[in-house]
Amino acid sequence: MDFKTIIAENIAKEVNLNINEISDFVEVPKEKSNGDFSFPCFKLAKELKKAPQIIAEELKTKLEAIAEFMDLFEKIDVVNGFLNFYVSKVHLVKEATEKFAKQDKEYGISKEGEGKRVIIEYSSPNIAKPFHIGHLKTTIIGHSLYNIYKYLGYKTFGLNHLGDFGTQFAKLIEGYKRWGEEYDFSSNPIDKLADIYRRINQLCTDDEEVLEICRENFKKLEDGDEEYVALWTKFKELSLIEFEKIYDELGITFDEYDGEAFYSDKIPEVLDILNKSGAVIESEGAKIIDLTDQGIDSPIMVQKSNGSSIYATRDLATILYRVRQYDYDKNIYVVGNEQGLYFRQLFAASKYLGIEQKYIDGLEHVGYGIIMLPEGKMSTRKGNFIKAQDIIDETVNKVKSIMKDKNTDLSDEETNKIANQVGIGAIVFDYLHDNRNKTQIFDINEATNFNGETGPYIQYTAVRTKSVIEKAGGIIPKFEDINLEKLTDDYSISVLKLISNFGQILNTALEKSEPSILSRYLIDVAESYSSFYNANKIINDDKELQEARIYLTHMVNITLTNGLNLLGIEVPEKM
Ligand code: ARG
Repeated sequence: MDFKTIIAENIAKEVNLNINEISDFVEVPKEKSNGDFSFPCFKLAKELKKAPQIIAEELKTKLEAIAEFMDLFEKIDVVNGFLNFYVSKVHLVKEATEKFAKQDKEYGISKEGEGKRVIIEYSSPNIAKPFHIGHLKTTIIGHSLYNIYKYLGYKTFGLNHLGDFGTQFAKLIEGYKRWGEEYDFSSNPIDKLADIYRRINQLCTDDEEVLEICRENFKKLEDGDEEYVALWTKFKELSLIEFEKIYDELGITFDEYDGEAFYSDKIPEVLDILNKSGAVIESEGAKIIDLTDQGIDSPIMVQKSNGSSIYATRDLATILYRVRQYDYDKNIYVVGNEQGLYFRQLFAASKYLGIEQKYIDGLEHVGYGIIMLPEGKMSTRKGNFIKAQDIIDETVNKVKSIMKDKNTDLSDEETNKIANQVGIGAIVFDYLHDNRNKTQIFDINEATNFNGETGPYIQYTAVRTKSVIEKAGGIIPKFEDINLEKLTDDYSISVLKLISNFGQILNTALEKSEPSILSRYLIDVAESYSSFYNANKIINDDKELQEARIYLTHMVNITLTNGLNLLGIEVPEKM
């Protein structure tokens, strides 16, 4: 039930106006002391030819005479020509608890996405290159959007668009053939491949002949030469071992790993369509599409002067493939903001693919800002990049040492398991804490602070709700048995109001493709429960009061657990 509409409906009836003319004026006052909703009567002064104060007084009398209306409101006040409405606390409690009880453990789930198909492309690292802390960002944001879409009933496809195509692999093949035997690939294979790549790249710079061999290698690879394809496959497999270790630790799986190479045989058709569309023009031997008519100054290149395809061509082929294969409503790319212009160009160029407008409208680039460690900006170029695995290991170790200081009665096995969950929780939450476009500074001490706005803090609050319930006997009372009057104190009301927003929060997070809306919400819920907990005795002689408070605690437990899971964070058994 929506109070705004009810208020507007009743006022409209009394003054004989259309509800649409009224409902826009119903507002939520800034000051809590002015009620939960208010209506500025001066908006009707002209229409009714009366002073606002008189209108307010008359409306108050009339509304107070409507019994069903007054079931919902505690009181109506007139202040300076405003009508202030105070929602009935019992009604509020009833609404929030009832809504929760209908779904209980699945609180927040919905079917509103039913029938809609959403692709979320995320992570997409380049093979044979280290997976650094920037790759974690797309991985974590994408995974959480994927989870939320799924929870709201969308048919979701999580795609990892691996960077597995390009001349660098031809070079790598050459290097591997020359020096592969010097390396042991059983541990940290990507480091070894990266080292080979560094060496062969140097040699190519020094020796034009080697570069020429590499060019020929690329041709062979493209033509499907067995030996070359086998080597390329090996590089891909070795890389995936490392990537999958990280995905496992984060609890992530993908529906598809079709990388750039998968699209290489689909390029001719795309070029054909683009050429026929008349949009392709020649420029210094290369083929480009001019996008100025769509407000983009720089053209997009679709074919190099030597005839080979590029990143953009493969992405155009990908769009065409996804239209046919997935018939998507949304095709979301979670990729850093440094590719922002590129995606604008790509989406603009997709107009020439001959696909329906709805597929073009369904394209969305979800960008994000750079991530740095407190020391300075991470850079892949200078070789001082920070590997995601190092950050994960360091954070988990840090949590382990915090736990060892705090908690001596855990077995080593328990400590390891919990430290993993909390360490990952700390990273994931930190990554999703702020608006995704902001520059992120990952400070390990801040991220693992059990008392800060962190993953561990929310996890800890969720664990605490569980132990509160256990202390009270471990049984969740039935919703029907609860005396709702017992939850009308200010602390309970604050918690309940927040919990009741959960569904709306998930919707807004998707509308804005912004998981931070959910993470910040969870901080609010956890903080508001802590205030409730500090102010209210839960284990109580008044058993009705105890049961009601246990039920509220259960609501918090589920909301935090579901919210964290949607971000990609587990709640440990103990902490
Ligand atoms: N592999 C690319 C990189 O690491 C990201 C791929 C993004 N997705 C795409 N469809 N272009 O920069």
